[in-house]
Amino acid sequence: MNILLTGGAGYIGSHTAVELAKAGYNVIIADNFCNSSPKVIKRLEEITGKSFALYNIDVADKNALRRVFKENQIDAAIHFAGYKSVGESVKVPLCYYRNNIDTTLSLLEVMEEFGCRKLVFSSSATVYGTKAPVPYKEDMETGNCANPYGWTKLFIERIITDYSAANSDFSAVILRYFNPVGAHESGLIGEDPRDIPNNLMPYISKVAVGELEKLSIFGSDYPTKDGTGVRDYIHVTDLAKGHVCALEYAEKHAGTEVFNLGTGKGISVLEMLRAYEKACGNKIPHEFVPRREGDLAEYYADSSKAERVLGWKTELSVEDMCRDAWNWQKNNPKGYEE
Ligand code: WQD
Repeated sequence: MNILLTGGAGYIGSHTAVELAKAGYNVIIADNFCNSSPKVIKRLEEITGKSFALYNIDVADKNALRRVFKENQIDAAIHFAGYKSVGESVKVPLCYYRNNIDTTLSLLEVMEEFGCRKLVFSSSATVYGTKAPVPYKEDMETGNCANPYGWTKLFIERIITDYSAANSDFSAVILRYFNPVGAHESGLIGEDPRDIPNNLMPYISKVAVGELEKLSIFGSDYPTKDGTGVRDYIHVTDLAKGHVCALEYAEKHAGTEVFNLGTGKGISVLEMLRAYEKACGNKIPHEFVPRREGDLAEYYADSSKAERVLGWKTELSVEDMCRDAWNWQKNNPKGYEE
């Protein structure tokens, strides 16, 4: 089967490409490299021994997207393409609404033109907003998103759900990620943020490899186990495997289904820091600073539905996450731009 990955050269997309290839799928990647590197394709081929058709296009460009569907019999699509920086979305909300929603509408319209009826969508726990009780469950209220990025994910979930309700032969699986971290065990692909990382794990990795001076821990006065923020970190390889299970589910079920992909466990910033120090064998310089605007104290997943319905659950530990994140960073101190 031929699977189109929009944004397939990105962090989650590239790791999903590996797992799909391993599961015997033929992967076609459409990416404009606005937040990824073309070097990923060679790395994927090195890891899997398979080839990956690549289209360097803007997924919002329907004519470009039509060429992909004309040249390949696409059986299903996994939609990763989209801007994903929380902070940036607050600064330039129109760019986020235009890009993230346009890419989705174009994809759905071209899929319809070519009779492609299966979609997996990369959503985020951020759709639960700022008021949901933990652990987050799929049937909980969504909304009250903390930023435009989160709202784009929620609006796209709505678009997909309404489209699927109007087309009984359409299958959509919406995956709400918690905090993806780590890298493929080979160290050949990994997270490679464009500028100074916003997220904890790539920031720690850059400090560990000497690219950044020290970690600022945003807040030590939260009502959590040690005062620092608690999140549900999930190894990107476990997350990628969840996409293979979601695809298999979409092949058998029409309609829309939503799944949390997390470990179900909350890890604090300090716990992650200590685990990373063990993995890299060095102390990570850090300081405590005031809370970051918009941060929640604690959230993590109830991912029992994915286990029950998809037969998926995480297998990799926090130690695996730190080991693999460090392995990627130490072998690629400047990411793909060596
Ligand atoms: C994690 C914890 C910070 C950086 C975001 C998006 C979410 C998803 C994952 C896309 C928090 C603390 C962080 C630092 C720190 N992205 N921290 N110092 O904010 O939970 O989630 O990324 O889907 O949608 O909202 O992730 O890694 O930024 O923060 O102390 O330099 O680490 O306060 O407690 P977050 P994060």
